[in-house]
Amino acid sequence: MIDLAGKKAVILGGRTGLLGQTLTERLKLQEIIAVPLSRSDFDPLSEASLVAMLEREEPDFVFNTVAYTMVDQAEDEENKAHLLNTTLPATLGRLCKQFGIKLIHFSTDFVFDGKKDSPYTEEDQTNPQSVYGETKLAGEERIMGLGYEDFLIIRTAWLFGPHKSNFVYKIVNMAEERDNLTVVHDQNGSPTYTPDLADYSIELLKYEARGIFNVVNSGKASWCELATEAVDSCAINCRIDPVPTSAYPTKAKRPPYSVLDTTKFSEVTGIKPRPWVQALRDYVYNDLKDHQED
Ligand SMILES: NC(=O)c1ccc[n+]([C@@H]2O[C@H](COP(=O)([O-])OP(=O)(O)OC[C@H]3O[C@@H](n4cnc5c(N)ncnc54)[C@H](OP(=O)(O)O)[C@@H]3O)[C@@H](O)[C@H]2O)c1
Repeated sequence: MIDLAGKKAVILGGRTGLLGQTLTERLKLQEIIAVPLSRSDFDPLSEASLVAMLEREEPDFVFNTVAYTMVDQAEDEENKAHLLNTTLPATLGRLCKQFGIKLIHFSTDFVFDGKKDSPYTEEDQTNPQSVYGETKLAGEERIMGLGYEDFLIIRTAWLFGPHKSNFVYKIVNMAEERDNLTVVHDQNGSPTYTPDLADYSIELLKYEARGIFNVVNSGKASWCELATEAVDSCAINCRIDPVPTSAYPTKAKRPPYSVLDTTKFSEVTGIKPRPWVQALRDYVYNDLKDHQED
């Protein structure tokens, strides 16, 4: 296990991203020099700009949280999604290899088709059903094809947390305005709290882990179960009714089941991720109040 205090990390997407902002805070708590960067600090589509950023910052670690994350819009903007989700990680991987920097890149449960009915391991067959999933998977493959070992690809899912709007935040706000809501019940996944994801990712760094890891909170939920739990935790009097995916047609196809298995993460770190229900309580009690007052 290595001591990370005093090491330097740049967090691409760290000023504005849902995960990037929390990751920056949690790295600082571990006494890592954390430099959040956004589009005003570098151009993710320009190799010269990425080189200049790496030469300027001289980091030990690059965390890439930048992505094209608008899943439905990606169906119409394949080129933009490809540039951010595939070309950027490929270029970053190549430059990290050249500069001898560890790359920590985030990926998604949407690399799977959702036809399984037990949690997906890192070895399970991928088969993305959307442009977002395809471009994210291609990003993973480009990093893994570089002949560079010192990278981490962290697959995560269904993020909620402070600093930025997310599914739970939107549901709670809608529930405050309405007597009832209908939410999809036939998509099941692994809801994940960004501070937990950040801490668990840092643990992987301490153990000098390499390769692909699933990192999510434990337990599974449908969107409807997640919404119900959030509204109940906030003691809001709003009825949540389950509806099938077909009630809300979307451009992009989503996996009906994408729970991720974290056995590999636990074997390396000795940590069993805490249940998403417990993490949701922390979000509601600690973060959401401040969030709404912003
Ligand atoms: N959110 C989820 O539920 C979820 C689930 C599974 C996996 N993931 C993965 O986790 C990672 C973090 O996701 P997130 O939800 O934190 O993403 P996010 O909140 O959408 O943040 C994405 C970041 O990328 C930046 N960005 C987007 N387009 C850019 C561009 N053209 N130039 C420069 N910066 C650009 C954004 O900056 P601006 O604010 O300036 O646009 C933002 O900082 C991603 O790899 C995502 O694929 C997320």
